[in-house]
Amino acid sequence: MKIAVGSDHRGLSAKERVVSTLTRLGHEVIDFGTRATDPVDYPDVAFPVATAVGNGDAERGILICGTGLGMSIAANKVRGVRAAPCHDSVTAELSRSHNDSNVMCLSGDLLGGELIDRMVRIWLQTPFDGGRHARRVDKIRDFEKK
Ligand code: RB5
Repeated sequence: MKIAVGSDHRGLSAKERVVSTLTRLGHEVIDFGTRATDPVDYPDVAFPVATAVGNGDAERGILICGTGLGMSIAANKVRGVRAAPCHDSVTAELSRSHNDSNVMCLSGDLLGGELIDRMVRIWLQTPFDGGRHARRVDKIRDFEKK
C-alpha cells in the first residue's frame, strides 16, 4: 500500500519508527517530514499528507503530533479525508470498520512505540464493514459536495 506519513516535532521519533515499521511490512512510504526536532506547525504537515490522500496519490495517511488532535482537525478540512485520532487498538480498528478512516492520527507524547506498531498493523489490516456504516459515511461525502 502507498502510505503518506508526516509529523510535527513532537511526533518525530514516533514517525521515524512508523516509517521503518511500514517499510519492513512492505509498504511504500511517502515521508512528508518533519525531519528535524525544530518546532514546526502541524497544519504545515497535515495539509500535504491529507492532500495526497484526498487526491489519490496515497491510499492512506498517518499523521503524528503531540496529541494527534491538531493533525486530525487540520486533515479533516481536506475533501475526501476521514482522519481519525486513534488512542488504542480498539479505536484503530473501529475507525476502519465503522468510519472507513483513510488517515490515522496518533499521539507521539502519549503512546508507546509497541502500541503504535500494533495500532498501525490493525488499522492497515481492518476492512470497512460497509452496510449501515456506508450509509453514514455517504452522508459525510454528500455534505462535502455542497
Ligand atoms: C505542539 O506543541 C502541539 O500543540 C502539537 O504537537 C499537537 O499536540 C497539537 O494538537
